[in-house]
Parts: sequence; C-alpha cells; structure tokens
Amino acid sequence: MLTQHLIAPSILASDFSRLQEEIEMVNQSKADWFHLDVMDGVFVPNISFGIPVIKSMKKHAKKPFDVHLMIVQPERYIDEFYDCGADILTVHYEASTHLHRTVDEIRKKGMKAGVAINPHTPVHLLDDIISYIDLVCIMSVNPGFGGQKFIETTYEKTRNLREMANVKNKHLKIEIDGGVTLDNYKKLIDYGADVLVAGNTVFASKDAIGVIEMLKKI
Ligand code: DX5
Ligand code: ZN
Repeated sequence: MLTQHLIAPSILASDFSRLQEEIEMVNQSKADWFHLDVMDGVFVPNISFGIPVIKSMKKHAKKPFDVHLMIVQPERYIDEFYDCGADILTVHYEASTHLHRTVDEIRKKGMKAGVAINPHTPVHLLDDIISYIDLVCIMSVNPGFGGQKFIETTYEKTRNLREMANVKNKHLKIEIDGGVTLDNYKKLIDYGADVLVAGNTVFASKDAIGVIEMLKKI
C-alpha cells in the first residue's frame, strides 16, 4: 500500500501581520507540517525570517516544523534551529562543504536531516549521502521567492531519485518545493513525491483549508 503523501504549507506566503491566525488555520487544516523558509540574503537574493520568529511560532503550532535553510554554511546554526523548534532541518547541497558531517550533526541532535538541491543540481550527486538522510527537497523553482513558475524537468528528477531511493534508502522522503499547484500535485505524486510544499497555492486562496484538503486527495 502506498503511504499517504504529506502537505507542508509554506509560511513565507502567509500574511505575517496575522501570523498567529495563519498558524491556527494550518493547525485546523489537514496539512501535515509547517514549511519554514529561512533566507540569508547571501545564498539566495532575499531575506525572510529567522530564529526568534520560529521560536514564537512554536508556541502556537501543533504540527512539525520543516525548516528549509537557504543560508550559507548552515552547519553554524544547527543547535540554534534545534532549540527554536525545528523537527526536520534541511540544508542545501550547494551550501555545505562537509555535508556528511552536517547531516550527521543534525541527526545527533534528534532532528530529521534533509538535503535540498537547486534546479541545476542533478540527483545523482546525492548517491553518497542518500543513505544518511531522511529527506531530499527537490527545488522546483530557483530558491529565494514564493509564487514562481514550476520547472517541468522536476518530474524526471523525482522519478530518478525515487529509483535511487528504492535501492539505497527505502525510508527517504522526497519533497517538492516551489510552484506546486492543484494542476501539478497529482503528477508529482505519481512520479514519486512524498511531501508537497505549497505557498501561494494555499495562502493566496480565499479558502486555504479547502485547498489543503484538495491537495491531500489522490
Ligand atoms: C522558495 C521556497 C519555497 C516557497 C514556495 O525559495 O523554498 O518554499 O515558499 O512557494 P510557492 O509554493 O508559492 O512556490
Ligand atoms: Zn522552501
């Protein structure tokens, strides 16, 4: 039996002036995780939010925190993100020189370890790390901004990664991040995705709870 896919609304697309209400909406919805995008203005050309905001959110949130670090040398902040409430901590393949050590440290803290890859990074480069991690986040847009157009080569990448995971790490979760919509989510699941991040599709809708429910349907 196939396991049910997970939906992770990306808080980057929420209305920060009503952050607590947006958190409560996700709590009440069928969403599985909160997806939190941390940007440093160096690895990506944008700055979002960081540790104090995540710590405050944790007081209200009732679902796991999937923290996506778009920062250089993410290994510098593993303890801090653990302390502010990250459950899954994802670092970029392109941002951490000693990736094996980084994911090992993330797991030693008791968090799930994820590795994200930019659209130009091929999945075969994960061959020697895939058995040490819990999640791969395939970026289906260039990271830095919400609301961008989905990159079509993601389907093929997802299938190739699923094949690698079937051999080397059957428990690996494949997450797709960027441009996920009600039109493409089913195809992504067919190609092997387990976790779908959705920012604008959820938060730009007048019926966010209803959209999340639709994204959960197979
Ligand atoms: C992009 C972020 C995404 C983004 C997704 O750098 O990693 O998580 O918030 O937003 P949408 O779903 O609007 O493309
Ligand atoms: Zn993200």
